Amino acid sequence: MNAYKAKVAEELAPLIEGLDQQDIAQLLEYPPNPEMGDLSLPCFKLSKTLRKAPQAIAEQVRDQLQNVAWLDKVEAVSGYCNLFLHKESFIEGQLDEILSRKGQFGAQELGNGKNIVIDYSSPNIAKPFHVGHLRTTIIGNALYRIFDFLGYNVIRVNHLGDWGTQFGKLIVAYQQWGSEEQVEQDGISELFRLYVKFHDEAEREPELEEQARAWFVRLEQGDEEANRLWKWFVDISLKEFNKIYELLGVGFDSYAGESFYNDKMAPVVQELKDKKLLEEDEGAMLVRLDEFNMPPALILKKDGGTLYHTRDITAAIYRKTTYDFEKCIYVVDAGQSLHFKQWFKVVELMGYDWAEDLEHVSFGKVSLEGAKLSTRKGNVVMLEDLLTQAIAKTKEIIESKNPAMDNKEEVARQVGVGAVIFNDLSTNRVKDIVFSWDEALNFDGETGPYVQYTHARCCSVLRKANNGEGTELPAFDGALDSSQLLNDEAYAAVKQLALFPETVVQAMHKMEPSLISRYLVDLAQSFNRFYHNCPILVEDQALRQARLALVKSVQITLSNGLRLIGLESPEKI
Ligand code: ARG
Repeated sequence: MNAYKAKVAEELAPLIEGLDQQDIAQLLEYPPNPEMGDLSLPCFKLSKTLRKAPQAIAEQVRDQLQNVAWLDKVEAVSGYCNLFLHKESFIEGQLDEILSRKGQFGAQELGNGKNIVIDYSSPNIAKPFHVGHLRTTIIGNALYRIFDFLGYNVIRVNHLGDWGTQFGKLIVAYQQWGSEEQVEQDGISELFRLYVKFHDEAEREPELEEQARAWFVRLEQGDEEANRLWKWFVDISLKEFNKIYELLGVGFDSYAGESFYNDKMAPVVQELKDKKLLEEDEGAMLVRLDEFNMPPALILKKDGGTLYHTRDITAAIYRKTTYDFEKCIYVVDAGQSLHFKQWFKVVELMGYDWAEDLEHVSFGKVSLEGAKLSTRKGNVVMLEDLLTQAIAKTKEIIESKNPAMDNKEEVARQVGVGAVIFNDLSTNRVKDIVFSWDEALNFDGETGPYVQYTHARCCSVLRKANNGEGTELPAFDGALDSSQLLNDEAYAAVKQLALFPETVVQAMHKMEPSLISRYLVDLAQSFNRFYHNCPILVEDQALRQARLALVKSVQITLSNGLRLIGLESPEKI
């Protein structure tokens, strides 16, 4: 629809002083119902600039647009100028574009190959991958696909939490209460059990903390035994994380985690000193941020150990040098907002103008029955359990509805995982989510399975039109007769299709994949109204072909949208 906005703006620019084409295009709105046209100019927004009453402006605009070939009709009503597109040419242009661009419909060259770094998922080694980590993984993956679709070169970084004092605790716990077989067998849950046990025991026996600190120092100093155990914990954890990534269809270009920066921090600390930013405070080193109403950023501990801030600052400098990014995006929960504000400020104070290209894309907390998820207490739903249960539940539904289906396992995976992903992306990312099984797995309503099911419905119609073989649009002699799609339901569906490209661009600007999820629900609903009101495989060949072209266009667009937010689109459900 943006192309039409631009065309209207071009016509109106000479008439409206003080506003350029882009400003005018931005003023154009989509009216809430079809009687008010396809586009509308709210003229009260211009009355100050033009020093005229809104209705007078609307009438003037109407007269100006009287003889434009691609408009059917223009009306001036209550200060709005309502534009009705020439339906046939609009429909024809829209369906042509989708049918020819297929999987690329909506893709644009906005990025010109510029680099974008996205830091997401970034779980902590030896701790469970819980539903709290689900959001960063899902949002980050969707953002990657959206930026990629719009012509950016995206570098996906998994900034693993693979360093810190918890490794000292884990080594102590492992040596006291663990065994190699048990860890090999149970992986992260055993490592986590040991970690929790350490905390329990340390409450009674504080010297355990001392031992843990000593082991972490050995680890930092390169001690062989400490490093062997650390590496082993990392490998065990990664094996499990990868199972989840595979289920979710998520990948990374770099797994450079916190430990990667161990040998790169000293020069950065020196640089902070040279730039007179570092201050000593009871033996620790920090950057004061009082001026900016923030607590100081801690750079070195009393014992000289580095901190989360130190590693993030070092990583940002490394990424800038390595990837020369246009933007470096951190998809991390809102609980860490202050952390990011602090160290972004430090980078700015260091004199790097690219500090403004660092962006924290935050998201709300996930709570379970009202309790915040915490790794310490152990009240976590492990993500792998969540996904396996979603798949199992989907399989039950398929068994009861469609027991004869051939690839039940595969479809149950696609739909079950899709339900979880879509649930996560169904509201603005800043909102907190109360995780509920019922909602995540609700197969009716505004959910992933509903959109996937609508996609499969399109495929099924197309298959029937092809006598059971394939989902391509059947070949047809002659051009598409768009006058066959003038009824309300068909026209509304075409208009909905036209909004896809601009929705993708908006989702990128706002870093809000939920805009695409909501769009897909709207498109699916619009299509289903058409489907219920307009029989498709009718005798009349011109009508049949036009309706099939619409079905195919919806199928392509649903599939493209689902792919962008990380869902698959099975052809049969
Ligand atoms: N490992 C951290 C956590 O699980 C998230 C890391 C986010 N990325 C970063 N560059 N700080 O809380």
